[in-house]
Order: sequence, then structure tokens, then C-alpha cells
Amino acid sequence: MDTSNAHPPSNTGRVGILLSGRGSNFEAIYRKSTEEAANFKIVTVISNKRKARGLERARELGIPAYHIAPRKYENRENYESAIVDILNEHQCRLVCLAGYMRLVGERLLQDFPNRIMNIHPALLPAFPGLDAQKQALEYGVKVSGCTVHFVDGGMDTGPIILQTPVPIEEGDDEESLSQRILTQEHRLYSKAISLFFNNKLKIQGRRVIILE
Ligand code: GAR
Repeated sequence: MDTSNAHPPSNTGRVGILLSGRGSNFEAIYRKSTEEAANFKIVTVISNKRKARGLERARELGIPAYHIAPRKYENRENYESAIVDILNEHQCRLVCLAGYMRLVGERLLQDFPNRIMNIHPALLPAFPGLDAQKQALEYGVKVSGCTVHFVDGGMDTGPIILQTPVPIEEGDDEESLSQRILTQEHRLYSKAISLFFNNKLKIQGRRVIILE
């Protein structure tokens, strides 16, 4: 089977990925997109980090991959304009942040209203921001998990689409907990993307209704 993403069928949902690092969520979404029943394709990967492993992996998979260096732009708007140009060039319908460690600004939000998703390794609104798994362990919660949400201008604050709980086990450390949450992240993100392209997600204020 040809799994090349260079020429996705026009009837599949076109996804652009923004990432900053390892890219395991990107790869999980990619794997799902190669299944016969998939209704989405990753058409481009963009990173603010030149050495991001996810960028390298995208190139290996034949997906158009770009490094956009924030410091080369005068301000955030110009930086995001460069990203928007690439997303539009590849006719992206949905933008998925997959370990993209920057706040999204007005420019991206305006061009992709309610069309940017993010995944976070905690049950939001608990433990937003960096090191969510460490925050959960330090707080002493018995259950954490992961969240896929639409992105707004805040830090991990947009309307929640899907969540999966992950119980904390005796003896968990940051690494073991992160790994168990990550396994769930890899399942959850594609599920949310699939719902989006099946037109099953309806935003009502802060709530995302999942249509049957
Ligand atoms: C994931 O755990 C993701 O949830 C988290 O970064 C990791 C990226 O891993 N994102 C956030 O913390 C966003 N606030 P990956 O590069 O292997 O997908």
C-alpha cells in the first residue's frame, strides 16, 4: 500500500501539524491516517525548532515539513503569518498542535477559527502549562489523564473535546506516569480529529457537543 501523503485524496480531511519536539503524537496521528477507514491526512508538518525529531520524521515519511524560526520575524504576527501561508498553501482544514510549546496568537486564531486543536497531558482545567504530569504527582491527585481541546488565546484553556482518565499508581514517577498518559494521548487525538471531519463536533460556548 502506498502510504505517501504527497497527494492525499481530495475527500479526506487535510490536517496541518505544529510541533516543537519528539512528535510521538504526530506519528500516532499519521499511523491512524494511513488506515483504510481514516477520514483525514496529514498534509504538512511545521516546527518552530529546527532540530525537532518530529520534523525529521515527517521528512522521512515524505510529508512536506518546514522549520519556521520565530526569531527571524519581527513579531508574533509576522511569524504566524508565515505559518498561515504554509497551512493555506497545503489547504489545511484543521491545525493540530502536537507538543507545540508556544502560545497561539491572534493571527492563527483568526485564520483558523475553531479549527485548531491541542493535546495536553492532564485532565484540564487541572495542571495547565509545562510539566503537567509532574504537577499532578506533586499535587497528589489519584487520577490524571489527557485532554484534547480547541485552542483559544489562553494557555490550555479552550473548549474541551475529549478526555481520558489515567489512574496514578503507587510508585509512579514522572516518567512512568508520562508514558501511560502518552499511550492514551495517542489514541485520543485521532479520535477527536476523526469526529471533527465527520462534522460531529459542535461548540456551544465552553461546551463541545458530540453529535451522535
Ligand atoms: C505530549 O505529552 C503533549 O501532551 C504535551 O507535550 C508532549 C509532546 O510529546 N503537550 C503539552 O504539554 C502542551 N501543553 P510528543 O512530541 O511526543 O507528541
